[in-house]
Amino acid sequence: QYVWIHDTLTPQEEAGVSFEDRGYYFGDGIYEVIRLYDGKPFLWEEHFERFTRSAAELDLPFPKPLENIKEDMLHLIETNKVHNGIIYMQMTRGVQERNHLYSREITPVITAFTKEEDVPSHLQEQGISLRAVEDIRWLRCDIKTINLLGNVMAKRSAEDNGCHEALLHRGPTVTEGSSTNVFMVKNGVIYTHPADNYILKGITRQFIQKLCIEKGIPFKESAFTLEDLRGADELFIASTSHEIVPVHRVSGTIEKTLPSRELTDELQKTFQERKL
Ligand code: PDD
Repeated sequence: QYVWIHDTLTPQEEAGVSFEDRGYYFGDGIYEVIRLYDGKPFLWEEHFERFTRSAAELDLPFPKPLENIKEDMLHLIETNKVHNGIIYMQMTRGVQERNHLYSREITPVITAFTKEEDVPSHLQEQGISLRAVEDIRWLRCDIKTINLLGNVMAKRSAEDNGCHEALLHRGPTVTEGSSTNVFMVKNGVIYTHPADNYILKGITRQFIQKLCIEKGIPFKESAFTLEDLRGADELFIASTSHEIVPVHRVSGTIEKTLPSRELTDELQKTFQERKL
């Protein structure tokens, strides 16, 4: 298996990054995870649009034109002959002697790997439980940075309490999961947190929104609270790696069993039909 590093394909065991990479010191970088179905990238352009936005928000210049970066990534996917899996790509600000003040003279470092990875169909069938924990992340969750400590801590806490994913909430308001967006179904309406600075605007979320519009399913970008959750009919999470996964129980700050998964199943089915 090859990885992308130093602007070239390199066997994974030979790849190394600098000790002074700002990604290592400061988490100063951004990333994307893109799904590959049957060797073909899914929602490719959308992911690169978000990557571009993340870069701009952090004053990170691309070391070469975006079109060339896309070609490099396709080259890696083809060389590794990925079938069903993901490509992970990240760009750190580059190598510089440790200093909070970043230099604009350094060249960002792009690295990427691919991985065969099936969609978690057992989770999609059985559903998962969520652990409700306070969202302690910074206030620019809309930027897809590699600085993920708040997410990492929440995910560990979920797992340690027998749950698959975290349900993050800022005070009473539900934001998202540790690496997923969260959706509540109530009286046939889907609610999810608006795409502001408190959540990552998921590409899967965007795709689900589009499917809902097509199917005439009411989709509201309107925040819901833990209290609202008490009256919820269904709950589901969505992300590149999970696609759509139903939630059957929430524990932690709030205890709730979800009675149904009817609309979630319908969306899941539509997603499967449309993803290829
Ligand atoms: N996670 N919210 C957060 C905090 C995320 O990290 C992710 C993605 C999502 C869903 O976004 P998308 O639909 O574009 O995958 C929401 C990726 C997959 C990860 O970190 O592995």
